[in-house]
Amino acid sequence: MADPLPVIWHDLECGLYRADLGLWTALAAAHSDPILDVGAGTGRVSLELAHHGHRVIALDRDPVLLDALTARAAAHPELAAQITTVCADACDFDLHGERVGLCIVPMQTIQLLGGSAGRAAFLARAAAHLRPGGRLTLAISTVFEEFTWVPGEPVPLPDITEIDGTVYASQPTAVRSAGPRVRLERRREVIDPHGGRELSEDRIELDRVTVSGLVAEAVRCGLHSAGTDTIEPTEEHVGSLVVHFNA
Ligand SMILES: C[S@@+](CC[C@H](N)C(=O)[O-])C[C@H]1O[C@@H](n2cnc3c(N)ncnc32)[C@H](O)[C@@H]1O
Repeated sequence: MADPLPVIWHDLECGLYRADLGLWTALAAAHSDPILDVGAGTGRVSLELAHHGHRVIALDRDPVLLDALTARAAAHPELAAQITTVCADACDFDLHGERVGLCIVPMQTIQLLGGSAGRAAFLARAAAHLRPGGRLTLAISTVFEEFTWVPGEPVPLPDITEIDGTVYASQPTAVRSAGPRVRLERRREVIDPHGGRELSEDRIELDRVTVSGLVAEAVRCGLHSAGTDTIEPTEEHVGSLVVHFNA
């Protein structure tokens, strides 16, 4: 059996976010299916769009997360019929002739693609897969409130879940500048039903991006700037800027 931890942490740290779902469903209603959801993870957005009747191609490089997405869709036959998964790197994917009306990149995933070279590779693949008039939309963060938790001082509230008596807590401990990237640090703790505790550290680095920089990169791939939107911050999540491009 696959290690359940990657799915549990992914769901805990990303899966509860809902502030962007209205934006993605509105875009889906305005563009033709299928929709390509890049960095789909366990399906937070893909499942919502399928629930609204859209045909979705859920692409991620992590097969374990995609297996969880498939299992969740399979529990609802009407959703399962709407979703196809593709395990591939966003910088190097090929849908073998399929063209999409909308390609979405939620939750800063564009900032995980390995800097400008990775973004350029992705933007070229996205442009090649859009129908004429199709839309590419990227959610980005440009402003980060840096902090470093000092043991003994109050900490931001952890994300917590309990599954079969085991508690999983994911605690943000730092947001710090790391050259052209921003490093987000978390302390993850598993507390089993007998009180056994296991601690681990997690770090992810997001590339710093700007709207004007993304526009220049996308234009080089033949895309056209189509404006921006915002997603307001919530108590738990930073806000996002949303950058639109047309094929
Ligand atoms: C922040 S999560 C977002 C998950 C989901 N889209 C959501 O909004 O809840 C980023 C996702 O992008 C995937 N990812 C990161 N780099 C990738 C790459 N180069 N190609 C494909 N997927 C990638 C990760 O596996 C992860 O599932």
